[in-house]
Amino acid sequence: MSFPQHRPRRLRTTPAMRRLTAEYRLDPAELILPAFVREGITEPNPLTSMPGVVQHTLDSLKKAAAEAVDLGVGGIMLFGIPAERDAVGSAGTDPHGILNRGIRAVRDEVGDDLVIMSDVCLDEFTDHGHCGVLDGNGVVDNDATLEIYGRMAVEQARAGAHVLGPSGMMDGQIAVIRQALETAGYKDVALFAYAAKYASAFYGPFREAVDSQLKGDRRTYQMDAANRREAILEVELDLEEGADMVMVKPAMSYLDVLADVAAMSPVPVGAYQISGEYAMIEAAAANGWIDRRRAIEESVLGIKRAGANMILTYWATELAAWLKESK
Ligand code: PBG
Repeated sequence: MSFPQHRPRRLRTTPAMRRLTAEYRLDPAELILPAFVREGITEPNPLTSMPGVVQHTLDSLKKAAAEAVDLGVGGIMLFGIPAERDAVGSAGTDPHGILNRGIRAVRDEVGDDLVIMSDVCLDEFTDHGHCGVLDGNGVVDNDATLEIYGRMAVEQARAGAHVLGPSGMMDGQIAVIRQALETAGYKDVALFAYAAKYASAFYGPFREAVDSQLKGDRRTYQMDAANRREAILEVELDLEEGADMVMVKPAMSYLDVLADVAAMSPVPVGAYQISGEYAMIEAAAANGWIDRRRAIEESVLGIKRAGANMILTYWATELAAWLKESK
């Protein structure tokens, strides 16, 4: 081939050329920082399995939210860790429960400058660690759980969340929560449906993060890793029920699912780069086996390329700082 018409390497010759011809670039505005707030601690509590991530006090949570705003991060997703747990997750519906206090604290601190999202799920609040209440046989009772989600959602809206993230994978949860919000007068609070959420081994470090009491697994309500088509059904159901945004979770082992959902969804699509994905890269980097910053950027760019409009990542603030310095 003496006169090839195409030599793709022409567009790779210099950093400026590569920057100009890049098909995708990351933007802090599309990043969402997941954050944990724990009741009854006076100092932030570092997580062993997620180096760099902490359980926040109300105070340190406010600081993290303010820092995210300064760096242009798009949103924050809040999870609460209560001091007391019971079979029905009472701390989740308590207006003064730790998650609702966390939402209020962040809303006081940043107002509308950051989209404040909160987790609507019972696993952080139940003494058995499941995402819903149990029936007589120890199985998660779908419809009894929905009623509690409705009450949790209203309290989170009252506390000042802009967006609620129902993550429990109960059938019908979006419809019930939407109805509860309408009835209570919170018509502008949006729902970010964890539509295609898979039962994943990569949630491991999150269990430490929320001090989870779970024994067993979530396979009767979260999706099976073997299924791709089913994700479309889950998204369609959530859209019919009134989801304003939909999510695929985890991200890196489900990029095919993310691409499928991105191709069909008429609403914004998010992907959650979860605790285990974070932990793997941090652990490999700590061992000197991979270049930390390049691996982080590459992993998040891959999620964007697969079709995510919004990316939940524990690196949101750090990534935003890198993006700012490289401008
Ligand atoms: C459930 C919930 C989980 C995560 C977010 N919401 C845990 C689970 O489903 O087992 C995991 C997030 C992560 O691993 O980073 N409330």
